Amino acid sequence: MAKAAVLGYGTVGSGVVEVLDTNSAEVEKSAGEKIEVKYILDLRDFPGDKHEKQIVHDIEVILNDPEIDVICETMGGLEPAFTFEKRALEKGISVCTSNKELVAVHGPELVKIAKEHNCSYLFEASVGGGIPVLRTLNTSLKHEKIDSITGILNGTTNYILTKMDREKIGFATVLKEAQDKGYAERKPEADIEGYDACRKTAILASLMSGQYVKYEDIETEGITKITQEDFAYARSLGMSIKLLGMIKKNNSGFFTMVSPFLIPSENPLAFVNDVFNAIVVHGNMLGSTMYYGKGAGKEATASAVVADLIDLVIHKGSHMDVNLTDAPAQLSDNGSYVHRFFVRVDENSEEQARELFGSEIEVVESKEVFGEFAFVTDLISEKDFKAKYSQLEKPKGFLREL
Ligand code: NDP
Ligand code: HSE
Repeated sequence: MAKAAVLGYGTVGSGVVEVLDTNSAEVEKSAGEKIEVKYILDLRDFPGDKHEKQIVHDIEVILNDPEIDVICETMGGLEPAFTFEKRALEKGISVCTSNKELVAVHGPELVKIAKEHNCSYLFEASVGGGIPVLRTLNTSLKHEKIDSITGILNGTTNYILTKMDREKIGFATVLKEAQDKGYAERKPEADIEGYDACRKTAILASLMSGQYVKYEDIETEGITKITQEDFAYARSLGMSIKLLGMIKKNNSGFFTMVSPFLIPSENPLAFVNDVFNAIVVHGNMLGSTMYYGKGAGKEATASAVVADLIDLVIHKGSHMDVNLTDAPAQLSDNGSYVHRFFVRVDENSEEQARELFGSEIEVVESKEVFGEFAFVTDLISEKDFKAKYSQLEKPKGFLREL
């Protein structure tokens, strides 16, 4: 029997214990042996909980118990999670985690430590919640030359955008709903300002390149500027608005970005709603594949953590290779990247907008919005667009088109 410890008995950690309880027979069959949760580390006690006897408050109890084979870190945050994970790996205890903040910052270092100590570091749940996309990249797609990854990578913001569009509910109300459902980060700015999607994009970009992409280097914009007017225009255009993380390989390195995009209705990403995420991976031989599922929430995320836990038990005493190194990846200048842009200006700025963006613009009308002029530009580079947009006297916002 393998013995595990779960660090953090919150949304994901309690889900991990629940998955192991509910699917114990399937887990045993898959791992080749039973997996018992010997300890659960948390700051609080959980009186009356089925697992209250396993609760401990001191990490030393876990790290000094030679029976512990595997640790699931589901506390979140950089510290003390980093120190706990590092110390476990240094003792040869394999670790899996849902903590994308930590993986984005210290992933390569932790993988290296795991390798040096004949154990493994896995982090499937750090991207796309329950979707087995990292494992797929690391196994089924390992022989492919991946040239782009585009994804809806944050469940909270996709839930908010879906509700704002379909039910016209205000931003703050929907955010509260997402928090109540356990989707949001402890500090919800991480979701709505795009930081969480940025960290996931950094992890995907690192795995795609086999190098290290610093999340701080990824141009990131969240969804806080999206308004009901944007949705009204999007409906006129037959498009959806989604927060995307994007990585594209080009001659000079990797173009990376996190930003809300207008997505044409024929694109499958336009149909990814509520807490669901989807990641489109393009390989040179394979073409495009899309991975879809719940991007946040207790059970789905916990299922991904348990998948790692099972792999770690199967590979006890050896290192499972992960394509993550600390060699810095070369990011290319975003300025040359070309899109169409949807632009809103005050109606008094129509003439100026036409002068700046030329006759190729496509005017967008909505019966729900007044006092504005809205249009879609022709294909234009980021750099040229921003130069022109900054000259507009009364701009009201813009969105990129996928
Ligand atoms: P929660 O806040 O629900 O759970 C974290 C738990 O860890 C809490 O019980 C917390 O206790 C406990 N904890 C915090 N610090 C310590 C510590 N120093 N020692 C012991 N226990 C501690 O977070 P989630 O479960 O939502 O998220 C956990 C991680 O998983 C995060 O990194 C998150 O980004 C990631 N994640 C979350 C998903 C989700 O859908 N929720 C999906 C995918 C990843 P207390 O509450 O008392 O502070
Ligand atoms: N807050 C994150 C989200 C949790 O909403 O996607 C899953 O990583």
